[in-house]
Amino acid sequence: MVDSPIVHWFPGHMAKATRMITEYIKKVDVVIELLDARIPRSSANPVILELVGQKPHIVLLNKVDLADSSATKEWVEFFTKQGITVLTMDSKSGKGNKKLISTVEKLSKPTIDKWIAKGIRSRSVRTIILGIPNVGKSTLINSLAGSAATRTANKAGHTRGQQWVKIGKNLELLDTPGVLWPKLEDQRAAARLAMTGAISDDVYDLEHVIKQLLEFLLTHTPHILVERYKLKPDEMENADIILESIGRRRGCLVSGGIVDLDKARRILLQDYRNSKLGSITFDTVDEEPYYIDGEIPVLEGE
Ligand code: G4P
Repeated sequence: MVDSPIVHWFPGHMAKATRMITEYIKKVDVVIELLDARIPRSSANPVILELVGQKPHIVLLNKVDLADSSATKEWVEFFTKQGITVLTMDSKSGKGNKKLISTVEKLSKPTIDKWIAKGIRSRSVRTIILGIPNVGKSTLINSLAGSAATRTANKAGHTRGQQWVKIGKNLELLDTPGVLWPKLEDQRAAARLAMTGAISDDVYDLEHVIKQLLEFLLTHTPHILVERYKLKPDEMENADIILESIGRRRGCLVSGGIVDLDKARRILLQDYRNSKLGSITFDTVDEEPYYIDGEIPVLEGE
């Protein structure tokens, strides 16, 4: 495990982001929170429930095609047990769109009934997609909009440039997603966010991130490492030896036969991101967060 902060970055001003998201949420009847199915805890925003308040809320586990399917089932049970509506989604293929639309319609029924009871002329139900960077918000919006609809003209009272996209019989989606920030103070979560591409490659410590990736693979799926890199038993002793062996296998050598470890790390990261190391879910339902004592990183922009 790491003993110093591995990510030195903060996505803008948290207070400003909070204000924007709060404004967005006021405009909608149902909130869709997108999580990465490979890291449902690490990709969640720490204060999302406070921001959502009493509005109906759907947790959508996106990128299920990249996650371990039995772990996804456990996560679905985990959220369901807490009374949270949860669905799975592959935004690239659009698998899950229909179920999402029908669930938003179902969750908004009490709101519509209230409008009817008060004699208010019913309008379309409105929804928004929220999530951390790279979780697939734009892909999902395009997928939902692509199958549906015409973008409506800007309406009075809405921020210029924002549009509502009709995606169901009586449903509109804000075409601008709400960008949430992840919880980077949990260093294990930060490493997983880095591995899965939620954090820009320039701002994290690749050495620590790859060490965590290798330790995870060594514990959970060592056979994949053996098969992919043709490693012998004595090359599987620990993360450092595995990395060096992968470097040798892949010809990452500098003068004197020394392995270029950084090059080996980049090969490994590319292989993981190109799904060459299997479908991996890093977060498990029963893990505790991992904090470094007294080492909550001070991040730029704070
Ligand atoms: P964002 O708006 O939340 O920032 O995320 P965005 O939609 O830009 O998606 C980030 C990356 O995740 C994109 O890949 C996108 O294709 C991919 N993605 C989104 N949803 C899914 C999914 O359900 N499954 C899989 N496998 N991938 C998904 P990219 O490499 O940045 O772009 P591209 O090469 O796919 O165009």
